[in-house]
Amino acid sequence: MKSIDVAAERRYSVDFVTDWQGALLDYVGEKQAILLVPESLIQILAGLPKDFRRILLPDGELQKDASTYIRVLEEVSQTSLNRTGVLIGIGGGATTDLTGFVAATYLRGIEWIAVPTSLAGMVDAAVGGKTGINLRTGKNLAGVFHSPAKVIVNIGFLKTLSDRDLRAGMAEVAKCGFISDLKILDLIREDWQANIPELVSRSIAVKAQVVSRDFKESFEREILNYGHTLGHAIEKHSNYAMRHGECVSIGLIFAAELSRLRSGLSDAAAEKHHQILAQLGLPTSYAKDAWSSLYEIMQSDKKKKSKLRFVTLKQLGEPTRLEDTNEAELQHIYEGMLKR
Ligand code: GLY
Repeated sequence: MKSIDVAAERRYSVDFVTDWQGALLDYVGEKQAILLVPESLIQILAGLPKDFRRILLPDGELQKDASTYIRVLEEVSQTSLNRTGVLIGIGGGATTDLTGFVAATYLRGIEWIAVPTSLAGMVDAAVGGKTGINLRTGKNLAGVFHSPAKVIVNIGFLKTLSDRDLRAGMAEVAKCGFISDLKILDLIREDWQANIPELVSRSIAVKAQVVSRDFKESFEREILNYGHTLGHAIEKHSNYAMRHGECVSIGLIFAAELSRLRSGLSDAAAEKHHQILAQLGLPTSYAKDAWSSLYEIMQSDKKKKSKLRFVTLKQLGEPTRLEDTNEAELQHIYEGMLKR
């Protein structure tokens, strides 16, 4: 079995399996365990012992609503699960974010296992120990770093995804290529669908290395946010109607153009962003009249940090940071994306 180690506040492995239920049962052994799973995925639990306790979740971002979090905590507390118990989150990024946060806060912290079923979940959300829920004022505003005890990756789950979700997840894969592992870009160009298993494991390896070096995002981990400054703003502006990966795709183009203008990224490398994301069928621009709102959203998100900062690239695989941007140049780049 292939596995990738992560050394964060605890050591754990990301295991690539074909029999995810067997891997889960082996890990849980005699421990008390509760599964957290969205109702829409319940059919994938067929085959697990009937007495395996489960808590059903709504779909999508509703999972990360404070009311769901409290309801799940209450349900867990009504069982006999104690500090040696384990929670198992089976689903996309919202499920693993919620499961990790419940695990981090129940009895001041118990173990949890992530079983991601979406591409974005596998290559991003499930690995790295960021857990949390949304507040009315914004996404992920309540959360803690609490690594899973194990991540179980079953590539077979990806066959159940819609074409749109699969392509959206590929934005995070491409990001890992741009910031670190250039071979990912070759594999996408060659035949991304056929190369998915290798693309997933390479992207997880990038994330594992980064979070092992900087678990709490004091500096290096920030490179994982390449494309996300504008991406998050678009996500919010679209009222979450667009997939995270679709917004990140537009943000990656923006970050590449900013890198070309300000960080010395070559024309060829910036063009590579356009080629790869277009090949994946992902959006590469957004509404012209949205700029002022997007800038305002980026400015207000910035309050949680010190300054409006962008991760940019000096060259492919060599990220840097940019803080001294001005609105005119950012707007010029944004509008240029619409003219291509
Ligand atoms: N999704 C970015 C990170 O985990 O740091």
